Amino acid sequence: MQIYFDNAATSHPKPYCVVQAVKRALTEANANPGRSGHRAAIEAGRIVLDCRERLATLLGAGDAMRVVHCFNCTDALNLAIKGSLHVGDHVVATCLEHNSVLRVLYALAQRGRITLTLVSPGPDGFVDPEDVRSALTPATALIVCTHASNVTGAIQPVAAIGQVAKAAGVRYLIDGAQALGGMPVDVKALGCDLYAFPGHKSLLGPQGTGGLYIAPGIRLNPLREGGTGTDSHSLLQPETLPERYESGTVNLPGIAGLAAGCEYVASRLSQIMMQERELTQALYEGLNAMEGVTLYSPAQEAGRAGIVCFNVGDLPSAQAADALARRDIAVRGGLHCAPEAHRFLGTLRRGAVRASIGHANTFEEVERFLQAVRALL
Ligand code: ALA
Repeated sequence: MQIYFDNAATSHPKPYCVVQAVKRALTEANANPGRSGHRAAIEAGRIVLDCRERLATLLGAGDAMRVVHCFNCTDALNLAIKGSLHVGDHVVATCLEHNSVLRVLYALAQRGRITLTLVSPGPDGFVDPEDVRSALTPATALIVCTHASNVTGAIQPVAAIGQVAKAAGVRYLIDGAQALGGMPVDVKALGCDLYAFPGHKSLLGPQGTGGLYIAPGIRLNPLREGGTGTDSHSLLQPETLPERYESGTVNLPGIAGLAAGCEYVASRLSQIMMQERELTQALYEGLNAMEGVTLYSPAQEAGRAGIVCFNVGDLPSAQAADALARRDIAVRGGLHCAPEAHRFLGTLRRGAVRASIGHANTFEEVERFLQAVRALL
């Protein structure tokens, strides 16, 4: 039986209700949501709205119309970043960011449109909000911070950084790729203007889904213009949310599956969180007890998402991950699309092995995994 510890990349298995919802959308509501007025189109529109409302509840967003469907978290981050910035702006981000933030910012910087400061975490793996404050300049227009590092799992002090952003009057974007669905999120308490998230990770939805929360008063330039099913007489992109940012037909089967995933997660969030935390702790302690294993995730149980990042002896991480894959254990080696995080950890050359826990994992799997790592050593 496979041990699937690659949930930080894509969660597996999906609950059966998610699979059923995708199938139902493709059979019973297989039409264009928000366009035509026939039965299936109305049902499709209802599914899209239902998902939006469930997402808004999980985000603490209040107004569901401020949650827009995107193609994935990368798409949401592109919209949030490119939609916010103007020539001459300065951005503060952290070196823990994923390439879905870093490449977007570097592309803008390379074209001379923005300047960028990356803040490093302390030796404990957590960014100090004071360092973010110190990096601000009069031109700073955006602060970007990951909610939890996709490499180490370290949960960042995103609410304290929100206070820094608020005091400075700077727009604040959180990358929730490793957070929403795996821990409580309240966008108002976090003080963020924008919160990007994927649907296919802890929300247990299908790939090709995700979204962006946009706080009241925040206006973005859309990445795409096109048909929205509203104001068709106008040649200008609508100002109203969510359609301003949702041009073109949305991923209805994906969104139907995501709505089911949200329902599943919302009904048992504290149970999932407790189970994932205990399993992650068992994994961390088991690896920590092995001579020859180097750990990169924070030691504090409360300070990390369900991720344990490590290396085995002096094996390149890709070799260790391949050896585990031959035993039918799914993990991710390499750089996890986060090169600056690995530069910070000193693992830019060999990468690291990342084991990431999900809702369906068990203690028995953790034990078998630890045995496999012992065998590698
Ligand atoms: N961003 C995903 C990961 O961390 C794919 O693996």
